[in-house]
Amino acid sequence: MEESTVTIRELAEADIDRMVELANNEKISVNLRDQFPHPYTHKDAVEFMKMLKSNDRLIVFAIDYNGSYAGNIGLVLETDVYRKCADIGYFLGEPYWNKGVMTKALNLATSFGFEKLKLVRIHCGVYEYNKASQRVLEKCGYEKEGIFKKAISKKGKIWDEVRFAKINPAFND
Ligand SMILES: CC(C)(COP(=O)(O)OP(=O)(O)OC[C@H]1O[C@@H](n2cnc3c(N)ncnc32)[C@H](O)[C@@H]1OP(=O)(O)O)[C@@H](O)C(=O)NCCC(=O)NCCS
Repeated sequence: MEESTVTIRELAEADIDRMVELANNEKISVNLRDQFPHPYTHKDAVEFMKMLKSNDRLIVFAIDYNGSYAGNIGLVLETDVYRKCADIGYFLGEPYWNKGVMTKALNLATSFGFEKLKLVRIHCGVYEYNKASQRVLEKCGYEKEGIFKKAISKKGKIWDEVRFAKINPAFND
């Protein structure tokens, strides 16, 4: 059987139509901030691309699975005393779930953050019910650091947020 390939690359205008098809899924939006809307429209994607161009603290890659656009993964660079940290966020289109794609993409984006951007720490907050994302973070060597109790208000209900982080091995004491 042929080995599947996962790469991350610059997001392009040509990705917009497929991004809308895949992002317009409540099983995805329920795990993300409300700024990722449902339904997810062409206009939302165009505005997102525009925002990326005007915000140099936001670095978003397309995830390619066997040469096709499959989702996004991005780093939000923090400021002030947190300038060596970034928050990481991601989504993958449902047809590609449970094939190890995000585990590969997260490893690639984490390496980019540590090796190219020289970040010391990358963190991620996951809603308590999102077991798949928690598992992906664990598989990529992120450590569960704690729980922000009842931090999340999503779709009219209150949830805990599970906080994960990975430290750049170059900065391990
Ligand atoms: C979460 C998400 C990124 C996972 O991507 P993926 O490519 O399917 O992940 P992988 O295949 O690399 O790994 C998934 C792991 O979770 C496990 N898993 C899947 N569903 C699970 C569940 N309901 N409970 C527990 N584990 C689950 C899989 O078995 C696998 O672990 P394993 O390799 O030990 O068997 C993807 O489902 C997604 O984009 N979801 C919507 C958006 C989202 O949640 N973004 C993250 C916000 S923090």
